[in-house]
Amino acid sequence: MTIRQISTRPFPGQRPGTSGLRKKVKVFQQPHYLENFVQSIFDTQNDLAGGILALGGDGRFYNRSAIQTILRMAAAHGISKVIVGRGGILSTPAASCVIRKFRTQGGIILSASHNPGGPDDDFGIKFNVPNGGPAPEKVTEAIYRRSEEITSYRITESPDVDIDRLGTRNLQDMTVEVIDPVQDYTDLLAGLFDFELIRKLLHSGRFRMRFDAMHAVTGPYATHILETLLGAPSGTVINGTPRENFGGGHPDPNLAHATELLEMTRGQRGVDFGAASDGDGDRNMILGRDFFVTPSDSLAVLAANARLVPGYQAGIPGIARSMPTSQAADRVARQLGIDCYETPTGWKFFGNLLDAGKIAICGEESFGTGSHHVREKDGLWAVLFWLNLLAVKQQSVQQILMDHWRQFGRNFYTRHDYEGINSRIAGELIDDLRGQLPGLPGRELEGYTVEYADDFSYTDPVDGSVSDNQGLRIGFTDGSRIVFRLSGTGTEGATLRVYIEAFEPDPQRHLLQTASVLAPLAKVAEQLAGIEKRTGRAAPDVIT
Ligand code: G1P
Ligand code: ZN
Repeated sequence: MTIRQISTRPFPGQRPGTSGLRKKVKVFQQPHYLENFVQSIFDTQNDLAGGILALGGDGRFYNRSAIQTILRMAAAHGISKVIVGRGGILSTPAASCVIRKFRTQGGIILSASHNPGGPDDDFGIKFNVPNGGPAPEKVTEAIYRRSEEITSYRITESPDVDIDRLGTRNLQDMTVEVIDPVQDYTDLLAGLFDFELIRKLLHSGRFRMRFDAMHAVTGPYATHILETLLGAPSGTVINGTPRENFGGGHPDPNLAHATELLEMTRGQRGVDFGAASDGDGDRNMILGRDFFVTPSDSLAVLAANARLVPGYQAGIPGIARSMPTSQAADRVARQLGIDCYETPTGWKFFGNLLDAGKIAICGEESFGTGSHHVREKDGLWAVLFWLNLLAVKQQSVQQILMDHWRQFGRNFYTRHDYEGINSRIAGELIDDLRGQLPGLPGRELEGYTVEYADDFSYTDPVDGSVSDNQGLRIGFTDGSRIVFRLSGTGTEGATLRVYIEAFEPDPQRHLLQTASVLAPLAKVAEQLAGIEKRTGRAAPDVIT
């Protein structure tokens, strides 16, 4: 067989972040750029040689060409088999499912998640480990170190492999197995949820829903599961045909970007249930008629009602939420008498807790929810979980939330993002705030008394590893809280995120406007951080 050894050089800053390596397509198109990173994965993950690799992506521009490059490099590296989704497609949770089901030695997922796609937009690559989850820090560090010293990579000289036909073919000594990207994932979900009951709900004539795939990878998954298997009328899935540029949109399921769906849930004629997922299928947004469920509340509701769903009937051992996620889940855990873990931002911190059986359900405020069924957050899983609950409870989304708040109290919640600010100024803002923290406890600010103020540090209860400087927390005596942190995923300058949460036990006040309830705390945040004075921004760029 013809293997070529090609000289390369390190690319500065080729550091995988929390979500792998994410850059503009143009950066990835530079000669040797993708190859460099892939070779660094192969050079450091010793079990891959002679082993199995799962491979697929969200179908964005450059996906197909990257798949062919990776296949050629895998063949040159002595990988025995690559399992690839047809057309190069695997949603992120489906890739996690495939890695686990076929016990592969890892997987490569091509995606830049919710970032726009197309020749002038973003592409990404990440390596997932054999538990199906994102590589932990020690793995990404090793890949990074290797990418800095690499001088050559190996690749076969061979024609493109046909990835559009199911079945097995050879690329020199390596087997390429093209699988249906939807099947294994569907089987997994069918084992967790009561599909019969959901089918009845969708056929009752009293329930209408829409799922917005945002022209991204969940189109085929949602169409198969919701329309074909569960019998929802055709047209239930909107924007269901994946496009390489996501139709020019921003495939991020939130109130700012999923506006078409939002409109469909409005007014008397609005649908009963609306849901959306992002570019690679791991995020979700849940809407009722004229009603938005915050991701923090969604996590709390799913955890509180887990026993109503077949896959979680025996109860859950614990819950985990990322630190900035509202404390609604903590209140559920307390009442259920189970543990609630507060982890740093990023899905990878849930992996150890899930593997150790300490938790079964976890989530982040950034529209990510998931469970022990895979090791990624999972958009469609959350949607089916909600459908299962709606089918059991025979209540509206709003009614379920109102009941939940009556039982647990309501954590009003918002996130303010200041994007593309000067990195130096952002750093100073955080440093100055950090300096103020020791003086805050006991102080009264706009009627709220500070109970604690710290720079969040996490010690992993499973492996003892410590992650420092994970965001500044200011907690108040009534359970309200303000959190400041800098984004780890932004691509230009710095993004400051301010998370504001107020606890309200009184049901009479549960339908107040979030913005007005949180206004005094927003004022406190501004007083402490001086955001406008430092950045010149009078208001956040994005409010979620
Ligand atoms: C953001 C979200 C975080 C999520 C990550 C990857 O990270 O806040 O919850 O895990 O994207 O989807 P950030 O930009 O805040 O570092
Ligand atoms: Zn995503």
